[in-house]
Amino acid sequence: MRVVSGIQPTGNLHLGNYLGAIRNWVKMQDDMATKGGECLFFLADLHAISLPHNPAELTANTREMAAALIACGIDTDKSILFNQTQVPAHSQLQWLLTGTARMGWLNRMTQWKDKAGKNREGASIALFTYPVLQAADVLLYQATHVPVGDDQKQHLELARDIAQKFNNDFGAGEDIFTLPEPIIPPEAARIMSLRDGAAKMSKSDPSDMSRINLTDDADTIMQKVRKAKSDAEPLPSEKAGLAGRPEAENLVSIYAAMEGSSVDKVLSQFGGQGFGAFKPVLGDLLVAKLAPIADRFNALRSDTAAIDASLRAGAEKASALAQPTLDRAYAALGLLR
Ligand code: TYM
Repeated sequence: MRVVSGIQPTGNLHLGNYLGAIRNWVKMQDDMATKGGECLFFLADLHAISLPHNPAELTANTREMAAALIACGIDTDKSILFNQTQVPAHSQLQWLLTGTARMGWLNRMTQWKDKAGKNREGASIALFTYPVLQAADVLLYQATHVPVGDDQKQHLELARDIAQKFNNDFGAGEDIFTLPEPIIPPEAARIMSLRDGAAKMSKSDPSDMSRINLTDDADTIMQKVRKAKSDAEPLPSEKAGLAGRPEAENLVSIYAAMEGSSVDKVLSQFGGQGFGAFKPVLGDLLVAKLAPIADRFNALRSDTAAIDASLRAGAEKASALAQPTLDRAYAALGLLR
């Protein structure tokens, strides 16, 4: 097994990232210790330049996100943690794969459509080719499993399409790339905004009240949960009763994911109760689970020398794992080196 996944170092780590992806990273890392195999986790800093950004903030955010991942349980003795920029093989393979990826495939990416909006002519080329870099990120390491939230599923399918076409066109009967499987958590595939049950919780939402950041203090978490959009009905006793109630469904899913149980179990406990009773219990659970992460993060974040040394060491290990696949890809394309 080879587990590979990434996160953009833009803004804070929020509850959607944590429940949708990072918690699974930690689980898979710990499983791997008994099963054998490697985990590689990286900060997708090259992806972060596809939208307007502030260079000084990107440097700071890259270090902070590394500290946040370690605070969440990523252990640099068990996993390889690095930032994309320090492994040039990512950009090199991306270019090789742009010969295989089709314009039509990229044009269908919903994230491209959402982020470019009506201003496609003004969007950066990086925003359009972004999923090819993401394909390179995982194919470079022969990833077998990629733990992500639901919003990345389409990008993973594209990575599989690119791998398959490259293997067919240039593999001469052999598979140069492994087709990676997405690993998506059932109860937290898509955590929604606290202000709008139809929008995913996201770093780019202008309202900080829409998300819970892993660094929020207890008062802020309680306030955000208290003010979260909900409805006037009591909670149902079964999952089917959440149909058409996206905000209620989101809050119950957050509780279930945070507690490590299921939506059905939470409803069997809280069915019949209103949000006046449920929200404080949810807030307490979030505070209890997130406080130790915030404490670890605050202890780690200021030691930039230690963070930089960890990222450098991770990048060296990642580069060594990437090299054979990169060499094979160059050779398969007939590029003389
Ligand atoms: P990013 O930085 O937007 O998010 C990091 C991870 O968090 C998950 N996630 C969510 N899960 C559930 N509910 C939400 N509201 C929510 N918001 C974010 C994402 O699905 C993701 O798993 N393009 C990627 C980064 C990337 C990558 C890769 C991932 C670059 N290369 C290779 C996997 C493999 C991104 O922007 O994720």
